[in-house]
Amino acid sequence: MKPDKKRLWQGILLVILAILLFFFLAVLERVTSPLQKFLVYILLLSLGGGIIAIVMSFARDDAQKKERKYNMQKTIAVIKGDGIGPEIVTEAMKVLDKVAEKYNHKFTYKEVLMGGCAIDATGEPLPQQTIDICQCSDSVLLGAVGGPKWDTLPGDRRPEKGLLGLRGALGLFANIRPSHLNPVLADACPLKNEIVGDGIDLMVVRELIGGAYFGKRETYVKDGEKIAYDTTKYSESEVERVARVAFQMARKRRSKVNSVDKANVLDSSRLWREVVERVAKDYPDVEFSNMLVDNCAMQLVRNPGQFDVIVTENLFGDILTDEASMITGSIGMIPSASLGSGKMGLYEPIHGSAPDIAGQNKANPIATILSAAMMLRYSFDMDVEAKNVEDAVQKVLEAGYRTGDIMSEGCKQVSCQEMGDLICQNI
Ligand code: IPM
Ligand code: MG
Repeated sequence: MKPDKKRLWQGILLVILAILLFFFLAVLERVTSPLQKFLVYILLLSLGGGIIAIVMSFARDDAQKKERKYNMQKTIAVIKGDGIGPEIVTEAMKVLDKVAEKYNHKFTYKEVLMGGCAIDATGEPLPQQTIDICQCSDSVLLGAVGGPKWDTLPGDRRPEKGLLGLRGALGLFANIRPSHLNPVLADACPLKNEIVGDGIDLMVVRELIGGAYFGKRETYVKDGEKIAYDTTKYSESEVERVARVAFQMARKRRSKVNSVDKANVLDSSRLWREVVERVAKDYPDVEFSNMLVDNCAMQLVRNPGQFDVIVTENLFGDILTDEASMITGSIGMIPSASLGSGKMGLYEPIHGSAPDIAGQNKANPIATILSAAMMLRYSFDMDVEAKNVEDAVQKVLEAGYRTGDIMSEGCKQVSCQEMGDLICQNI
């Protein structure tokens, strides 16, 4: 507890004054009584005032702390996870702290366990405490989970099961993954210039808590051989809510939606198509078309510029977003937001835990930092702050700084920590 310095000095001065008066009185012992009474009165006042001021100097500090007015206060559950997770999340938190300082916000972090580290500490990939804390927070920031250490565990005990469980528990049905070819990193794009044309700037809205990931599954033995199945099941409401996210997203972009399915084969896709077509009628200003998933995989490398917003089911979305990120040249740059019906979201880079470079301060923290920017925008409505972070990343890249994964000739290679520091300096 630190005292308020001004008050403290006032108190000390009053006490000194009272002591001086005491000695003065001792000298003036024989002075007529009214003056003596007056001086005793002053002495008591000074002493009392001084003591009150000293006490207040401490009390005021506490009150001041409570009173400090922030523009916004948010609680963020932080899951650092496995592999490079802790390194990249630390840099993203540094960036969030810089934003909080600049714009007078307060971010309170609550660190929780999920994935491999949770298995090691508690025996489970997703402890109940983690779900509880995430549910009570304004958003969740996640690094990455998984690694070879836990690869041999049975399916329902793997780190990834923790991630799926958390997405389900938080009701995060829409996963938003932007793929943008940054002109500064154009060299990293594996596609030919004539294919890239005017650039790539698309967004995949992936359904996240339905389909084969969450459907009934089983592995059993019949006639001496193993048989396994997974089921893809969607209800109309599940399709409708994610479709609406895509159409609303498109309105803020180039007003174009491609719904991707396999309606020529799968019943679940035929229902998907029927519902999305119905929803599309509510957005006549948005250009809409359907595309089969195999064709979409091909079009992404043939003419990626044609896409604005792609909406698709969970498994297709998982596959297409890896492809969509790779054509921008750098999976280490792509953030994601997982949203539900409220404001709370889970923000994570789309890359994995990269155990081969874990703990070496080599990882690229940009995807996680850009995920934090998405958090500012989608969960906290802090558009200006989000833009500031994105601009800072851009400036650092334009100045030629690169982590190992995006390094090219003539650039300056920096560590994970240095990249975080450089981005902070530009906020
Ligand atoms: C992703 C990942 C996850 C998924 C894994 C880690 C379970 O690949 O977020 O794309 O398949 O959803
Ligand atoms: Mg994936």
